[in-house]
Amino acid sequence: MSKALVLQSLYLAASVLFILGLKALSSPKSARRGMNYAALGMLLAVVGTLFHHDVISFSWIIAGFIIGSLIGGAMAIFMPMTAMPQRIAMSHAFGALAAVLVGVVEFMHREFSHGMMAAVGFEVLFGALTVTGSFMAFAKLQELVPGPPILYKHQNASNIALFVLTLLMFVYLIYNPTSWFLFILMILAGLAIGVLMVLPIGGADMPVVISLLNSYAGLAAAATGFVIENKVLIIAGALDGASGFFLSILMSRAMNRSFANVLFGGVGAVPAEQTGPGEARTVIRYSPEDAVTAMESASSVVIIPGYGMAVAQAQHAVQELSTQLQRRGIQVRFAIHPVAGRMPGHMNVLLAEAQVPYDLLLEMEHINDDFPHTDVALVIGANDVVNPAARYKKDSPLYGMPILDADKARTVIILKRSLKPGFAGEDNDLFYEPKTMMVFGDAKDTLIKLVQLLKK
Ligand code: TAP
Repeated sequence: MSKALVLQSLYLAASVLFILGLKALSSPKSARRGMNYAALGMLLAVVGTLFHHDVISFSWIIAGFIIGSLIGGAMAIFMPMTAMPQRIAMSHAFGALAAVLVGVVEFMHREFSHGMMAAVGFEVLFGALTVTGSFMAFAKLQELVPGPPILYKHQNASNIALFVLTLLMFVYLIYNPTSWFLFILMILAGLAIGVLMVLPIGGADMPVVISLLNSYAGLAAAATGFVIENKVLIIAGALDGASGFFLSILMSRAMNRSFANVLFGGVGAVPAEQTGPGEARTVIRYSPEDAVTAMESASSVVIIPGYGMAVAQAQHAVQELSTQLQRRGIQVRFAIHPVAGRMPGHMNVLLAEAQVPYDLLLEMEHINDDFPHTDVALVIGANDVVNPAARYKKDSPLYGMPILDADKARTVIILKRSLKPGFAGEDNDLFYEPKTMMVFGDAKDTLIKLVQLLKK
C-alpha cells in the first residue's frame, strides 16, 4: 500500500470518528464513548500525518510529541475541575497560535494566488484574535483581570473602526499577496481585536465568549487545512467551528441574550444598585439540624447545584444526601440550569462522576413548573441561576436570564459560605425571603453533617 493511500485512509477514518464522537457527545449517556471516538480519531490523524510525503525527519515530530504529551498529561491530571474553563480557553489559544504560525511560515515560503491568500489571511486573522481573546478570557476567569466589563468612551465605535480597517487590509492583501508589511500589520491588528473584544464583556457572559472563541479557533484550523491542503484539518476545523457557533447560540438563548448584546452590550457595566444605607436587610441563619428537620418533613426535594458545589467538590456528599432522603420515601430530583457552574454541562459531569442517575437530572424547562408544588428547594453553592433579580431588576447584569424558580418552592434552603454575590456580582433577594433558610459553611462540610444527622 502506498504511503499516500495509508495517509488518506487514516484521515478518512479519523474524520468519521470525529463525526461519530460529536454525535455521541449530544447525550450524557453516550458522551464518554464520544470522547473516546474523538480521541481515537485524533490519534489516527496524527499517525496519518507521519506518512505525509513532506516529512523528511522525525526528530522534531518526536520532540514535539513528547513535550506536548507531557504538558497535556500533566494538565489533565493536575488541573482541578473548577479550572476547566480556563484550561479550555488556553487550549483555544494554543490551537489558534499554531494556525497563525503555520500561516506565517507558509507566507514566508510560498507565492500565493489571490484565492489562497484569502485562506491564509482568514487563518492568521481569526487565529490572532483567538489567541489574545482566549488569553483574555483565561485571565478574566482566573481573576488576573477584573471580571466586570471594562468600558471606555466610544468603545464600540473604535472597535468597529479597527475591525473595518483590518478587513480593508485583508482585502488589499488578497489583491496584492506580497506585502509583508501589511501581512504583519494585519496580524497585529488581529491580536489587538482579540483583547479589545473581550474587555467589555462581563464575567457572566464569559461562557458564550469561550464557545465563540472555540468556533473561531475551528475556523482558523479549517483555513489552515486549505492552505496546507490537509483534508482532515478542514473537516475537524469545520466541525469545531460549526459546533462552537451553535453552542454559543444555545448559551446566548439560555441567558436570554442576543449575540450582539453579549458582544457589544457591555452588560453588567453599571454596578448593580446596592442596597442603600438604611435599607440594610437581614437574613436568618439556620443550623444543619434545622435544615434536616425541614427536609425530613418534606415529601419532595429539588436539589439545585451551582458553582459552589464544584468548588467544594461536594458532588459525592450530595449523592449520599439524595440517597438518604430517598430511603425515607422523599422524592428527590436535581434541577440543572444550562449555565450553572463555569462551563456547559459542568453540573452534569460532576453528578455523573458521583453516580447520580441521569433520570434524576432535569433541565430548567422541565422542572420550573414543579417548583410551586415542591416542599424544599435545596440550593447548593448556586447563586446567579436562582437570583430573582433576573426577572425584575432592569439594571442588573442578570436581567432577562431565565432562572430556576427556586423562590416558588415552599421552603428554600441555601448552602453557601457567606452573603457574597455570585459570578455576576448581583446581590440575591432570595437570601432575604422569610421562607429562606441560610445554612452557612463550606457546602461539602455542611452536606456531610446533614447526611450524618439523617443517618441518626
Ligand atoms: P455563582 O452565581 O457564581 O454562585 C456560586 C456561589 O457558590 C457563590 O455565591 C459562592 O458563595 C458559593 N460557593 C463558592 N464556594 C463554595 C463552597 N466551598 N461551599 C459553598 N458555597 C460556595 O454560580 P451559579 O449559580 O452556578 O451561576 C453560574 C454563573 O456563572 C452564572 O452567572 C453564569 O452565567 C456564569 N458562568 C457560567 C458558565 C457556564 S457555561 N456554566 C461559564 C462562566 C460563567 P460564597 O462565596 O458565599 O460561598
